Amino acid sequence: MAADSTPRILPTEITPERVYERRREFLTGSLALALCAALPARAALPAWKKTTVGGGQTANSWREITSYNNFYEFGTDKEDPAKNAGSLRTRPWTVSVEGECLKPRVWDIDALTRAFPLEERIYRMRCVEGWSMVIPWLGFPLAELIRQAQPTGKARYVEFITLHDAKQMPGQRWPALDWPYVEGLRLDEATHPLTLMSVGLYGRELPNQNGAPIRLVVPWKYGFKSGKSIVKIRFVERQPISAWMAAAPREYGFYSNVNPDVDHPRWSQARERRIGEFFKRKTELFNGYSDQVARLYAGMDLKKYF
Ligand code: MTE
Repeated sequence: MAADSTPRILPTEITPERVYERRREFLTGSLALALCAALPARAALPAWKKTTVGGGQTANSWREITSYNNFYEFGTDKEDPAKNAGSLRTRPWTVSVEGECLKPRVWDIDALTRAFPLEERIYRMRCVEGWSMVIPWLGFPLAELIRQAQPTGKARYVEFITLHDAKQMPGQRWPALDWPYVEGLRLDEATHPLTLMSVGLYGRELPNQNGAPIRLVVPWKYGFKSGKSIVKIRFVERQPISAWMAAAPREYGFYSNVNPDVDHPRWSQARERRIGEFFKRKTELFNGYSDQVARLYAGMDLKKYF
């Protein structure tokens, strides 16, 4: 019995190695195609270069950056965004560039990500609540997008608007803020070379809790100016009213430049706690970016324009 139970393989049944390899390639190819058809189209991030712009200091860990967040659309506790932001669908996604410009355009997010050169920039970020982090953003200068849109002579400010969809953003079912989240910059702040549209973090796509698929990053201003999950960028004549100005105008001004000498009405801004560190450190004017941005505010009373 033993000898006869060995399966008999005819010589014609044996697949030559080269054919096997090709068959495997074909099978992996069709598997990949099937998967592509099943999943929403999602292009990988294009190549990027590292720059030293805004750099310095050791970055916080991936875990710190992605588990301690402010994103009220997903809850008001620091742990809420990481827990709840899974309901946000980031593909398909469009960003409408509109208002006072000659070339308005609705960008598909993947086309937008490919249209401008991506860079990694390690920025210090300071939250108005008194904590800070160092974050290796991946993004492109907003100035590039603005140049392409060709703002008219009437455009003095840029407004940034977050997605408004309570089905995907459960925090929008409660009036924690007047939704959608709105932020704004003066046109010269928006075109400053430090101002970034970020699509990634640590070389990977932005996690939802950090503002996927695209967010603003303005490192010399308090973190709330850096609006997340942006769907509209609008050129306007008048100074926009941001979500935080609308909620508490005495506490949050339009400029919101990091400034240790201008306290929040309810707490001092002189010091900050870098996440991961024990001792507090001194907060620096314009978050340490004075040499690059102070000229934007020459002659302005920073206590009045807080
Ligand atoms: N953008 C939206 N749409 N909603 C928000 O609640 N919070 C802001 C800002 N952008 C917020 C937002 C605040 S207060 C901060 S400090 C930063 O996002 C935090 O960004 P991070 O979680 O990636 O560190």
